[in-house]
This record gives sequence, structure tokens and C-alpha cells, in this order.
Amino acid sequence: MDDDDISTIYDSTGALVEGCRLPVRMHGTEDWPLAEIVSVKEQECRRIFYVHYVDFNKRLDEWVSEEYLDTRKVQFPRRDATATTASTGVTTPKRILSIPGSVSRPASPTNSEIVNGNTVLAAALQKKINRKRRTQIVIENEESSQDVPDKTPRQSGSMVAHHDDVVTRMKNVKMIELGKHRIKPWYFAPYPQELCQMSCIYICEFCLKYRKSKKCLERHLNKCNLKHPPGNEIYRKQTISFFEIDGRKNKVYAQNLCLLAKLFLDHKTLYYDTDPFLFYVMTEFDSRGFHIVGYFSKEKESTEDYNVACILTMPPYQRKGYGKLLIEFSYELSKFEGKTGSPEKPLSDLGLLSYRSYWAQTILDIFITQNPGPDGEKPQITINEICELTSIKKEDVISTLQNLNLINYYKGQYIVCINREIIDQHKKAMDKRKIRIDSKCLHWSPKDWTKRSKW
Ligand code: ACO
Ligand code: ZN
Repeated sequence: MDDDDISTIYDSTGALVEGCRLPVRMHGTEDWPLAEIVSVKEQECRRIFYVHYVDFNKRLDEWVSEEYLDTRKVQFPRRDATATTASTGVTTPKRILSIPGSVSRPASPTNSEIVNGNTVLAAALQKKINRKRRTQIVIENEESSQDVPDKTPRQSGSMVAHHDDVVTRMKNVKMIELGKHRIKPWYFAPYPQELCQMSCIYICEFCLKYRKSKKCLERHLNKCNLKHPPGNEIYRKQTISFFEIDGRKNKVYAQNLCLLAKLFLDHKTLYYDTDPFLFYVMTEFDSRGFHIVGYFSKEKESTEDYNVACILTMPPYQRKGYGKLLIEFSYELSKFEGKTGSPEKPLSDLGLLSYRSYWAQTILDIFITQNPGPDGEKPQITINEICELTSIKKEDVISTLQNLNLINYYKGQYIVCINREIIDQHKKAMDKRKIRIDSKCLHWSPKDWTKRSKW
């Protein structure tokens, strides 16, 4: 590329507006995937662009400067809001778009948005919430209390699916500090505006209250005497504990947990009421206290047999097996309840990966450890028996068997064939799951919420 080329390209960024699509170089990679401009602003006399990579998850969205834009093939937005290729007389960029998965960051395995009645309803709800939020969010100053639930943005343990609006499409929090971790958020979360302007939001790792500076947090820590989440510790094995928190009894904690989780959960939206939910917070213990690793929320009563509403591993702990531990725990609770359960839909890309892997390992484990019949005949098991043993809902068992491609139809019946290779792979995968839930360490009995007049 000579100098003339560069100036032509740079000059033409002037025409770029929100909604334009063009190849953009992804930070930290040599890839130029197609991206959509979500927002444009001026910073130090230069225009910068907030872009969404079309085939990638929104957590990769970022601000880029104009050197990152390849303006030789721009699709301008049409009036009806769908982008169209403008006849700029230029050819396809020489740098070929990368295949998702070949990049160093996680690619989204699903890029189609699920649109259904719930989503439409949720979009309407979201608009309503946004209107309310504008009037309700109070800017918290240092000593203002977050113990007044009506004045803070309220959320539920569930968080409904939503359609984007421009504000909530963009990450608004630059950084959070939680205990010893500094974490870059993935998505929008409605923290008070004043805090979002700061370079970092400081969060108490035990009560999850948020402060605008390190000093303010230190002042808070002098007063805060929590060293673990509120609620009952219902499980402990070695350093891992689970605390059960009632969204009605510990409303402020539950709301702050949802707000924190929203930074990493995109496909769900915060909404108002935490009362109908229980929160199971997993912690790791050391001499300084019980540090939050992740959590899941669960409706007290679910008409759809959901046993998880939202699930999250805090980013510093991800990809170490804690997600599967949370999932395993959620099914352990369902076993204690004598029910099958399933996670609330839609699942995120990472949620789907984790659940698929958990389901596959759990079901394969049953097949592989089954004993042959008394006369050495092949072991038999029904789908219902698999559901009973695992508490995995029938449709998830069936979809897992289909995904694994294990079912064959032979002489009038369905049989599952497992070869040595599958067994070896499975054993290797199970060896990697170092930490497991031990049901003997769970001290919990399910409550019948239907019998209570009020949660
Ligand atoms: N890229 C590729 N694979 C991944 C990634 C990644 N970034 N993260 C997890 N996985 C895979 C792992 O390889 C593993 O599969 P394997 O054992 O077959 O290799 C599986 O997912 C689970 O890995 P864990 O280490 O046990 O899970 P982790 O602690 O990372 O937590 C979770 C998974 C909870 C989904 C986490 O990614 C997260 O919190 N994401 C943000 C929030 C979210 O999307 N939650 C789910 C929403 S759906 C719902 O709420 C019902
Ligand atoms: Zn605190």
C-alpha cells in the first residue's frame, strides 16, 4: 500500500456513520472480519468508532481508531436499516476475513438471534424498564446507602432476553476491581452514570456494594464486616462452599449480584424483582475470607422445570472447570428435589458449550459404568432411567445423544454403540475434572414454595 492509498482510505472515513459495515482489524489479531459501526465519537480531535464484529459475540465489541478500518468495501445502511454494499468501485479487501475459531479469542458458535414471542415481549419490557431506569437510577455518592432497594436499579435473578438499543449495546463500564482481581467487563450493565465515567468501579467482594474510588472502597471495608456472602452455607468441601441466598430476604445483595453478573451476561436483561429467586453463590476460601467464584440463580417455583435461571463464572476463574461444578451442583439440588431440570433459555454461546459438555460427560459416564446383565448380555437402560439418575431433563438427554451421534437403529430397537476411542476420550476428559460435587457435603432440604402464601 503506498501513501496515496493510505490517504484515500483515511479520507473516506469521513463518510462513515452508524450502521455502516466494513472490514475492521480486530485488536490483538491480524484478522479483518466484517464489523458494524455502532457509534462514532470524537476523542482528542480524532474520530473513533465503536464496532461490533458481525459473526462474533458482542463481548469482542470495541472502540477502534480509523487505522483499524478498511474503507475499500463499505456497506452503507439503507433507510430500512439493513446495510447494503455501496458502489465505492473498490474490490474485496485483500486480507481475507478470518474464519471464526481461527482467531485467538473465543468465537461465537451461534450467530443467529433467536426471535420468538418471549423475545418480543422482553423487548417491550426492556423499553419500559429503560424508561423507568432513567427516572429511577440514583447516582450513588460515597456514603449514600445502597440499602434502599427502591432507589437502586432493580433486577431479577432471571433477566429476560432482549433486543438491543444503542445505549445498552455498548459497554459502559471500563473496569471493575473485585477483591484482588481487575476485570474488564464484556457487556453493558446499568451501574450509576457517575460511576461509569470513572476508570474503574471498586466493588466489595463480600457484599458486592460498589464505590467510585479505591479510597471510598477502603472506607467501606472498614465498616463492612462480611467475609462471605449472606445466607446459609449449604455445602462445603475443602475450600469450596456454596451459600444459598433468598432474593427476598437479601434483596440488596441479590440486586448487586445481578448487576455485577450483567457485565458478563448479554442475552439477558436486568429487570426488577429478585423476590422469586434463590441465588447459589460458590466461593473459594482462604485466610482472607470466602471469595466469590461464580453463582447461579434459580426460580423458587418454575412452571417450566428450569433449575437454573442465570449462571456465571467470574472471568478470572473461567475455563478451570468451575462452570461445570456450578452446573453439577444445580443438578445435585434437582436430585434432592426428586425432579429433572433444565437451564432457562436462551443459553449464551459459552453456556451452550458448557451445558453440552456437562450433559455428554454425565450421560457417557452412565453408559460406561453400567454393568452387563447376569448372563453377560449387553446392558440396557431407558431414557427415563437416565433422567432419573442424572436429573437432566428428557429433551436435553435426547438432544445430547443426537449430538454425540451415538444412537443407531438395529433390528427394531435403538442401540447405543460406544467404541474404545469414545471411552478413552471420555476417561481423559473426566480425569481433567479434578473438583467434583460430593453429595455428602450438601446439607440442604428443598422447600415447597407452593405452600407458602408469600415467598
Ligand atoms: N471458549 C471455548 N470453550 C469454552 C470457553 C471459551 N471461552 N469457556 C468455556 N468453554 C468450554 C470449556 O472448554 C469446557 O468444555 P470441555 O470441558 O468440554 O473442554 C466447558 O465450556 C465448561 O468449562 P468450565 O471451565 O467448566 O466453565 P467456565 O468456568 O468457564 O464457565 C460459563 C462457563 C459459566 C458459561 C462461563 O463461560 C460464563 O460465566 N460465561 C459468561 C456468562 C454466561 O454466558 N453464562 C451462561 C448463560 S446461559 C444461562 O444463564 C442459563
Ligand atoms: Zn462490603
